[in-house]
Amino acid sequence: MSSSSLLAKAFEPGRLAGLTLRNRFIKTATFEGRTPGGQPGAELARFHRDVAAGGTALTTVAYCGVSADARTFDDQMHIHEGVLPALKALADGVHAEGGAVSGQLAHCGGFSRAKPVKQRRPLGPSGGINEYGLLSGVPFKGAMTPADMARTAADYANAARLLRRAGFDAFEIHMGHGYLLSQFISPATNRRRDDYGGSIDNRMRFPLQVLSAVREAVGPGVPLLAKINLADGFDGGLTTDEAVRCAQLLEAGGVDAIVMSGGLVSRTPMYLFRGTSPLPGLIATEKNPLMRLAMRATGKATFADLPFEPLYFREQALRVRDAVRVPLAYLGGVTSAGDVDRLMRDGFDLVCIGRALLYEPRMVERMRDDPDYRSPCTHCNECVPAMAEPRGTRCMVREAAA
Ligand SMILES: Cc1cc2nc3c(=O)[nH]c(=O)nc-3n(C[C@H](O)[C@H](O)[C@H](O)COP(=O)(O)O)c2cc1C
Repeated sequence: MSSSSLLAKAFEPGRLAGLTLRNRFIKTATFEGRTPGGQPGAELARFHRDVAAGGTALTTVAYCGVSADARTFDDQMHIHEGVLPALKALADGVHAEGGAVSGQLAHCGGFSRAKPVKQRRPLGPSGGINEYGLLSGVPFKGAMTPADMARTAADYANAARLLRRAGFDAFEIHMGHGYLLSQFISPATNRRRDDYGGSIDNRMRFPLQVLSAVREAVGPGVPLLAKINLADGFDGGLTTDEAVRCAQLLEAGGVDAIVMSGGLVSRTPMYLFRGTSPLPGLIATEKNPLMRLAMRATGKATFADLPFEPLYFREQALRVRDAVRVPLAYLGGVTSAGDVDRLMRDGFDLVCIGRALLYEPRMVERMRDDPDYRSPCTHCNECVPAMAEPRGTRCMVREAAA
């Protein structure tokens, strides 16, 4: 470590709205797969308690569907009274370890293979073919009306209100990766001609309405983070210029921090992850034979290896840093204490970690004790297909070594 290291700063307490964080580390959302039949249980609670016990300040419960129709597939949880006791136990476990817990508020929009419950078809900014549901009996998606949007914003608010009752400390509104709000923000998926389509300011209108609705539900003291794309990763998708504007609008809309990611799970998943393609594992765990066939035929184009490099979103994230004052959470390829030092010197406020914390839930503690700590995570991405296994998302490299 150089004498100008700012690594120690990452271990200082931080504040987001009314919440004190014991340090600057966030366990980012990595869908845990521990909600069979949509029901969270002791395994999900243990997963997050382990992260908190390892020193991370804020752990994020991935993909909390804001309604039954917000789910991308059947085994995903949606937030309702029935899941609150289990989520309260989860939050209590995290708090007992000195950590805080955030819920990722998510909605699939027109990207779903779950049979709609209250509507005829999944709804997003624009109608058409629902590629993800095409071979699972949900072939079409519809376009939301302003009334659908108002109802959906109320679902986000209601989910946050319920999660507050379960003891959740913060919320991350998912505006990236091709889910509902990202579908509105991306020019590739939003073809509307009304006030919600066209310019980036128009495309941000509904995400900002959701932010306001959640803020009204939880009040000013509860941190609201927004996870956005720095770019969609293909021609015709969201550009980093537009992402900068998106961050400025969120800042003006009163968000407490922005988490920066990229890619659409439907089109550019490897832009999001980098590293080795998980396609063979995804085919092996796919239960629908038609989907397996389709993945064999076309999967290679979507899931091609893309070289991993540490801090792979740094250059784009620096552009956002130069344009806003709101706290920024860096995400993407943090694998060592040296990376964290770099981010502190860059002036990022928070550090999000996904896969390296799957390998080692005590990574934050390890980095505090050893400024040369380097994660053994190989970015094989075998944790991705593990999401669909009964034991859920976990590091397969670590498991093989155990
Ligand atoms: C197994 C797995 C599941 C993921 N699930 C989610 C999710 O539910 N929501 C989300 O926003 N991002 C999800 N991600 C993306 C991560 O939040 C993060 O963007 C990505 O892993 C890059 O960060 P890393 O290099 O620190 O792992 C997932 C990533 C992995 C590996």
